[in-house]
Amino acid sequence: MEREQWASKLGFILAAVGSAVGLGNIWRFSYLAGDSGGAAFLIIYVACILLIGLPVLMAEFSVGRKGQSDAIQSYHNSGAGGFWSLGGFLGVLSAFLILSFYGVIAGWIVYFLYSYLTGAAQSVEEGGVGDFFGGFISGTAGPIFWQFLFMAIVIAIVFFGIKKGIEIANKIFMPLLALILVLLAIYSLTLDGAGEAMNFLFAPDWSAFGNFDVYAAAVGQAFFTLSLGMGAMITYASYLGKEEKLSSAAGTIVTFDTLFAIIAGIVIFPIVFTFGIDPSAGPGLIFVSLPEVFNLMGGAGTFVAILFFFLVAVAALTSAISLLEVNVAFLMRKLKWNRKTATLVAGIVVTLFGVPSALSQGGPVTFTIFDNSFLDAIDLLTAEYTLLLGGMITSLFVGWRWKKIDALRETGFGESIFGILWLWFVRVIAPAWILILLIINFYNDFL
Ligand code: PHE
Ligand code: NA
Repeated sequence: MEREQWASKLGFILAAVGSAVGLGNIWRFSYLAGDSGGAAFLIIYVACILLIGLPVLMAEFSVGRKGQSDAIQSYHNSGAGGFWSLGGFLGVLSAFLILSFYGVIAGWIVYFLYSYLTGAAQSVEEGGVGDFFGGFISGTAGPIFWQFLFMAIVIAIVFFGIKKGIEIANKIFMPLLALILVLLAIYSLTLDGAGEAMNFLFAPDWSAFGNFDVYAAAVGQAFFTLSLGMGAMITYASYLGKEEKLSSAAGTIVTFDTLFAIIAGIVIFPIVFTFGIDPSAGPGLIFVSLPEVFNLMGGAGTFVAILFFFLVAVAALTSAISLLEVNVAFLMRKLKWNRKTATLVAGIVVTLFGVPSALSQGGPVTFTIFDNSFLDAIDLLTAEYTLLLGGMITSLFVGWRWKKIDALRETGFGESIFGILWLWFVRVIAPAWILILLIINFYNDFL
């Protein structure tokens, strides 16, 4: 069977941006920034994006484009065996684990969309959104229902292979999301808490730079938000023709993804400070803050809220599709299943594995793993370990296992100064940083 290919380079870039921009930019970025001290986190995060994320993203693109197959087989096709194939396996594992809880958080988004459609959310009195949200996530049927609904849509799209739908989502809804975020940011800047929020987000508390937890959180977020370390970008680049240049594509993706996150921060923190919400409230931060301000806007607020939650749900959808696609492409090749079987099996198993996460936020699943709820534990397992390891292996693989000349040709840099610079980043700088952070994480979590 002939493998599919992107119709154009733009199609590829849009799909890659669609995979990158998602809950990571809005939900995860804000709660981590809030939890890790704001500006110090932001600075370290941007440094991680540039010093580790960008080189690793280009390395993943190179592996996929050269390998022309799913994450694991692409490694083999481009020269990996033995130890190196671990990179591909970690990728498939991470994609599975992440999608399991990604569907839960996306379910929360869809629940708010529904609650604004029915009128339930706008009738919450001022300051009461925290209780409204808490009541929802600590339930049993509720969180599972919305998780299942979201996952059913993801599975249906991958099942029918609706390329067109994804393209429309990326071409129309993503720019709309950008627009509404910018408008909301302008609105947020008029709130009383705006000054305090800008200080929090942009004026660093220098002592935080000595706190290793902040580095660990920042690098994990860099991988999560760029869809790195789990084969998603390898898989997408494998549908790319041999002649396309990779470096400009990587730059575009990194730029858009980072802008989305920073603008989301400018939207959320003024609300947090205006309403006296604790910035380190954790994974619920956007859910307990944003609706407060939507509800202040009167009738227009309902419209804005519906539009906002709809667009974030679509952004989550395009990301979730790419996560499921990693598993589907793997099963199709490995077990010779057709797309439909692979999608149904992978989709159902990953959804069921997400159920304990859905029930761990005040619901019946109360056991903890090293003091973390089930959802947080899976999130940390991936962001602190498997993604980093996967990224480190890809980086070393491209830097050392490939012939230098091949590596440079694949990126399109050639022997230019950028090429040589990039090569030493993937050979030494990125892997060394990742290794240090892995050790720190291990020390913090277990020793
Ligand atoms: N990058 C996505 C986000 O920020 C999440 C994701 C991770 C998607 C890995 C695909 C693969 O929401
Ligand atoms: Na992202």
